[in-house]
Amino acid sequence: HIDSETAADPAKLREKVKDAAMLLRDGGVVAFPTETVYGLGADARSTAAVEAVFAAKGRPSDNPLIVHISKNAQLEGLVEHVSPAARKLMEAFWPGPLTVVLPVKANVLSPRVTAGLDTVGIRMPDHPVALALIEESGCPVAAPSANRSGRPSPTLASHVVEDLGSFIDGVVDGGATGVGVESTVIQVSEDGSVTVLRPGGITLEQLSQAAGASVQLDPAILPESDTAGDLAPRAPGMKYTHYAPKGTLSIITGASNKVSEYMSRNLQEAAGRGERTGVLAFDEHIGRYQADCIESLGSLSDLSTAAHRLYAALRRMDEENIGFILSEACPEEGIGAAIMNRLRKAAGQTVIHLDATAR
Ligand code: TXA
Ligand code: MG
Repeated sequence: HIDSETAADPAKLREKVKDAAMLLRDGGVVAFPTETVYGLGADARSTAAVEAVFAAKGRPSDNPLIVHISKNAQLEGLVEHVSPAARKLMEAFWPGPLTVVLPVKANVLSPRVTAGLDTVGIRMPDHPVALALIEESGCPVAAPSANRSGRPSPTLASHVVEDLGSFIDGVVDGGATGVGVESTVIQVSEDGSVTVLRPGGITLEQLSQAAGASVQLDPAILPESDTAGDLAPRAPGMKYTHYAPKGTLSIITGASNKVSEYMSRNLQEAAGRGERTGVLAFDEHIGRYQADCIESLGSLSDLSTAAHRLYAALRRMDEENIGFILSEACPEEGIGAAIMNRLRKAAGQTVIHLDATAR
């Protein structure tokens, strides 16, 4: 009973949202579009519904879910306290791809949502279907990305059906999501400083401008952190390998000519060994490669395209049965920080630096 309707017909879409809201109220699990990726929603107050989400995804139970709201008034029923600094960032970026981790109010949400933590991540998505669904259901909606655990997050309803079709009660098809990578997860301390637990749709640059305070990445998720020590990421989800295609994926960095030369040679050698080859590259260099599956990440001059396309491109590698995959890198500025974070996870942190000085 999967309901896959395109966003083309607003009247039909409204009907689907009503049906989905009813399913949520009845304890069902329903996937829906947000501006980042598709989410798998459940009533965050119902332990049975939340358990169905964990089961459908095959998600480890120590990884908490984000709770989605449609209006500011919902917030006070869910959290103990919102500092002025946190409030300021919500005002700046909600609705939008920002999740704020706050002290959870006791005995409102299912304890499974927070995975036993005393905090909860809250966000107000910037998508008309998501907002209408939350509003109509009257529930705080717990929603992780609607993929099987470990797979790239879904940016199309068809990705959801592919991963979860037989495990969920429905999908509201709102077409392709916009941003393409998940929300930025932050925690704000009493002094107003901001820690980014997961880079995402709102950039560090945007956060520091709005906060007027220091913004740092959780040290445990810095690129070098796997050699720097065994810090535990403050967002439990960040410790898991994610998004990994079935083939081996390596990221190649360095001067663009060297990167292209290295990638072309290695793709050719892999093809010579009889492997199916894939490449993720920017439009500035994509003409330099030959491979069985060539995926464009758009232009380096507008990284929002790479964010929008990344997960579908990774899924295509599996669809095309690619065993050997190489990807170009992008600067870790703006949305580039989130793109590189996800790419490194997909590559199991395999990054080949071609600059002698960077070695
Ligand atoms: O864009 C998004 O955020 C999407 C859409 C559907 O809203 N949702 C999403 O949820 O990406 P999920 O469950 O795939 O990722 C949630 C991330 C995980 O890394 C989790 O560990 C972290 O947020 N998180 C959730 N609650 C937390 C908390 N109380 N403290 C620290 N990290 C938390
Ligand atoms: Mg996820």
